[in-house]
Amino acid sequence: MVRTQVAIVGAGPAGLLLGQLLHKEGIDTLLLERRSADYVAGRIRAGVLEPGTVSVLEKAGVAARLHAEGLVHGGVEIGFRGHRHRIDLQALTGRSVTVYGQTEVTRDLMDARAASGAPSVYEAEDVTLLEVTGPAPTVRYRHEGKVHEVACDFIAGCDGFHGVSRRTIPSASLSVYERVYPFGWLGVLADIPPPWEELIYANSDQGFALASMRSTTRVRCYVQCPLEDHIDQWSDERFWTEFRRRLGGEVAARVPDAPSIEKSIAPLRSFVAEPLKYGRLFLAGDAAHIVPPTGAKGLNLAASDVFYLSEALRDFYRASGAGQSGGEAERALDGYSVRALRRIWRAERFSWWMTRQLHQFPGDAFDGKLQHTELEYLFDSRAAQVSMAENYVGLPL
Ligand code: FAD
Ligand code: DHB
Repeated sequence: MVRTQVAIVGAGPAGLLLGQLLHKEGIDTLLLERRSADYVAGRIRAGVLEPGTVSVLEKAGVAARLHAEGLVHGGVEIGFRGHRHRIDLQALTGRSVTVYGQTEVTRDLMDARAASGAPSVYEAEDVTLLEVTGPAPTVRYRHEGKVHEVACDFIAGCDGFHGVSRRTIPSASLSVYERVYPFGWLGVLADIPPPWEELIYANSDQGFALASMRSTTRVRCYVQCPLEDHIDQWSDERFWTEFRRRLGGEVAARVPDAPSIEKSIAPLRSFVAEPLKYGRLFLAGDAAHIVPPTGAKGLNLAASDVFYLSEALRDFYRASGAGQSGGEAERALDGYSVRALRRIWRAERFSWWMTRQLHQFPGDAFDGKLQHTELEYLFDSRAAQVSMAENYVGLPL
């Protein structure tokens, strides 16, 4: 049987970043991932980093390329009724966001892990968590046809929404809060220079659209679509026609029918399972919570969770190494869930609010009036803009 201090399940941004932060603290980890390394590296997802996330990536020693290639944006725009309203993040909060794809963050973290020599097992099948409430948990998995077991002090469940970690916890020990939205996002990636300077979140009568980017030569664009839609129904031409219509104005006129290099539909969900600790198992990132993508918070929350978890584990090992009582060391661990959940719920609130204000919802004319009133208030009130901006750039860690 192999031994490690922390077994990390899942090599998404949460698992990879936790591994790197713990490595900096001299704590050993073994990383187990169900998919292949190529699959993990190729997944197209989020694109906006809060300054707090950038600081955590700096702390983990993986921010050199991010600083060289990331695009710093001091504002975002909201499109509504033919006008674009700029929210000046820099003037309102003194902070900016960085556009740098999750794909790139993942690549930087995978390279750093390989360079550190910390072990990773990709294509680990049937990962099973055993004895998680006892003092000596074990992780069992199958790799290349053989069954392996890892003895560890702790397990970090960083295996996303569909992973095994949250499902290991008996339902009586978890409280689950959930909201499912009646639409999805159709996303397209295309290699054209962005015809817009900053991200545009557009509320239109035809539904939401988001004009984003990954670099000075690559755009990422989304439109709200029915949940039942399949990507086969969305030719590139249909996508761009709809996108231009929702974006409107002179920017739309500059958007060509670019060939897509990736196209996918994602459902929207708000979800929190708490607490984040069960015995010696911790949940972090999408394993514990999901936000609808509208506030660009999913990846950023994964980063803040694992930052808090790395500090809790560091404090545990320091306290137990210094010969302090078991109680002292355990207290360091107990604080993780409370600290992370405070920030998670604030991001849940903000993502729900952004989603609510920008999409077409079926139903009630009263709700529609309130949505338009809320947006007009935002455009007119500096106080409302400060509130949006401080949440968009991210609340302090
Ligand atoms: P994940 O990235 O999901 O990583 C979990 C890892 O665990 C995966 O590699 C998975 O293969 C592995 N795993 C799962 N089960 C097991 C198992 N049993 N054993 C071992 N390994 C396992 N956020 C935004 O802010 N903007 C966006 O545009 C955006 N788009 C998204 C699109 C999609 C389709 C999805 C799913 C998410 C999107 N998100 C977006 C959210 C953001 O990407 C996530 O919040 C972020 O990836 C969370 O990181 P994570 O490491 O917690 O989870
Ligand atoms: C992107 C995704 C988001 O959900 C968002 O709010 C901003 C940008 C993106 O993929 O670029």
